[in-house]
Amino acid sequence: MRVGILTSGGDCPGLNAVIRGAVLKGTTVYDQEFVGFLDGWRGLVEGDVMELDRPAVRGLSHEGGTMLGTSRFGPYQGPNGGAARIAEVLERLGIDAVIAIGGEGTATAAQRLYDDGIRIVGVPKTIDNDLDQTDYTFGFDTAVEIATEAIDRLRTTGNSHRRCMVLEVMGRDAGWIALHSGTAGGAHAILIPEHPETIEQVCAWVCSVRDRGRAPMVVVAEGFRLPEMAEGYSTKGRDNLDRPRLGGISEVLAPMIEQHTGIETRATVLGYVQRGGVPTAFDRVLATRLGMAVTDLVAQGQWGNMVALHGTDIVPVHFDEALADHKKVPLERYLEMRVMFG
Ligand code: F6P
Repeated sequence: MRVGILTSGGDCPGLNAVIRGAVLKGTTVYDQEFVGFLDGWRGLVEGDVMELDRPAVRGLSHEGGTMLGTSRFGPYQGPNGGAARIAEVLERLGIDAVIAIGGEGTATAAQRLYDDGIRIVGVPKTIDNDLDQTDYTFGFDTAVEIATEAIDRLRTTGNSHRRCMVLEVMGRDAGWIALHSGTAGGAHAILIPEHPETIEQVCAWVCSVRDRGRAPMVVVAEGFRLPEMAEGYSTKGRDNLDRPRLGGISEVLAPMIEQHTGIETRATVLGYVQRGGVPTAFDRVLATRLGMAVTDLVAQGQWGNMVALHGTDIVPVHFDEALADHKKVPLERYLEMRVMFG
């Protein structure tokens, strides 16, 4: 069987390890052959492929990014998009099945292609860790590690200047990166999209830290909003980008904290470094296991499923189950840490 792999959506440390895991197991155990579609769905729609044999994936698990390239292009987009055209491309290239590695958008597109008759399976991916039906996504551990290191570094400069430091991490809809890095780094306040806090409460935590002679450290997820910020409030426009951009909340919060408390406050937006560089060992192992397991789905013809981590097991989950919900930080998980703020 000849299988095409693509990586779609924002990149994520561990994508290459998935590709390597799939090629190594698929070629060894199942006699599968692999090609890679370049730049996500674009490569599939346009039939732009590269051969993926064992030498092509050698030593790949420690490399960040994706060797195949990625994009936010959708399979139904453009004059050549759509399942009928994709089926033609697959037939012309002699490809029997597709493995799509991506986040929510990718899984939604994959589900639609499956409904339209394409033999497709998936591997979940996002540094935000907010995909339902999988306990952890690869890339999350790496992002948390990077954010924790940033907190450690900001703490020494904050302490030296007796400043309040506000670190903004990724997390559009869910605050997992903020919660985990803030916990690991000993933040004095962690602000996440799921649970609003008032500016008065944030400033009360900041002041109590200052009163103990410490430099306050606030970690905020990019999707966090104060209650007074209207629904749909966006920080976009602050960097002249046309497309929606959620980052920038720390640059709004820092002057508010300074104004309310009189404590000099600085904002740092961590941004894309959270997605770059080498994956942690945990992410390499998880990504490799997912890559290996997805070849089982192909061999068994379990189309319309993705592989997911349940506890320590890798199991198949149907796309529509995985898409039913976002995995938000539960209130009790947040409250567990909140008692330590201030
Ligand atoms: O991977 C998800 C994410 O990291 C979000 O937290 C963030 O909003 C988004 O990617 C930004 O990515 P891009 O600029 O590539 O669309």
